[in-house]
Amino acid sequence: MRTTVGIIGGGPAGLLLARLLHRAGIDCVVLEARTREYVEQRQRAGMLEQGTVDALREGGAAEGLEARGLVHQGIELRFDRERHHIDFPVLTGGRTVTIYAQTEIVKDLVALQLADGPPLLFEAQALAIEKPETTAPVVRFVHEGREQTLNCDWVVGCDGFHGIARDTVPAEVSRAYEHDYPYSWLGILADVAPSCDELIYARGERGFALHSMRSPHVSRLYLQVPNGTDPDGWSDDRIWDELAARFAIDADWTLRRGPITAKSVTPMRSYVHEPMRHGRLLLAGDAAHIVPPTGAKGLNLAVSDVRLLGRAFAELRRTGSEQLLDTYSQSCLARVWQATRFSYDMTTMLHTRPDADPFEHRLQLARLRRITASRHAAAELAANYTGLPLQW
Ligand code: APR
Ligand code: PHB
Repeated sequence: MRTTVGIIGGGPAGLLLARLLHRAGIDCVVLEARTREYVEQRQRAGMLEQGTVDALREGGAAEGLEARGLVHQGIELRFDRERHHIDFPVLTGGRTVTIYAQTEIVKDLVALQLADGPPLLFEAQALAIEKPETTAPVVRFVHEGREQTLNCDWVVGCDGFHGIARDTVPAEVSRAYEHDYPYSWLGILADVAPSCDELIYARGERGFALHSMRSPHVSRLYLQVPNGTDPDGWSDDRIWDELAARFAIDADWTLRRGPITAKSVTPMRSYVHEPMRHGRLLLAGDAAHIVPPTGAKGLNLAVSDVRLLGRAFAELRRTGSEQLLDTYSQSCLARVWQATRFSYDMTTMLHTRPDADPFEHRLQLARLRRITASRHAAAELAANYTGLPLQW
């Protein structure tokens, strides 16, 4: 097989990049190791910055989002049994965010690509990326029981944290920065209407909790739990009791309960790989960086990477200039580090470390109090949460 851009990975990054390239008249092929069913059912995040909404519109993939996405004007912070609304339009000059599940984005992009192209191969496991330093890199992959090769001009690794692309960049020119957090998230899906029309980030004395949603009838909630927690060790009642305790406020408010339909535990890590390019190989999305989900940046960072890549390849096709490809890694990493900073700040402000001393607990409350008492501090949170400019 031969193509201009070989894309490894059919998650949000790979699928959206394929959409943007296809609409720019640049041929590409997506190799996805798993089945269509698997990639479409993976429960992930669902908070979209305006830039992500814009990118899906640019890709002609925003029909579902326009019909079912929930536009939110802010979030709620809870601590010390108080509730505080952070008003995004007032604090950012009109910006909002949209709740629309990543699973829905993936389904929308898969359906478009299967109907309209470019080629999307499921159960196609990339084994190696050869000659990335040349102008003719090759992806070796297995599909339908046969080892095959995809000859490319460029290869983009959108293969997530556990893919092969990142490790193709020689160690002597790579640098990885990482931080593991001493807690995880127990996430649930529940067939119950949301208990609030906004996301609630709660710093309870017993730990962090997040209230989100997927639709007017499905809630998505998370609980801070110790690393290594087995989700099966938490009964539905125990989960609802713990969530209710952490969201508790003195005002009149009740957490609605309902049947839990999905339960999983996710560890929390920050990870950045530099550079995001090696020769004709470029990295995008989780293949290059991981953020803790507290800032809801994972999907939005993946989308901003591929937006820059889409523009770079369109520029190459239009003018022959590789200038935007040459600056891709530097441009992405400037934004990645800002999202990493913000996600770290939100995570360490809201999660009570198991062995934290009283000083740290009071410091967290002082950080939260500053945000709810100062328009300047609240505006800084709102600016980061709703999304920094693409070219930071
Ligand atoms: N060959 C082909 N496909 C591969 C290979 C391989 N060797 N290794 C991994 N993949 C596929 C995975 O099966 C997965 O579908 O690459 C895809 C990577 O998708 P994601 O992990 O979703 O990463 P990305 O597209 O960057 O999206 C980032 O998804 O993981 C969440 O929180 C993250 O919201 C963020 C977003
Ligand atoms: C989600 O809806 O899954 C979600 C929202 C905001 C976050 C994390 C997850 O910060």
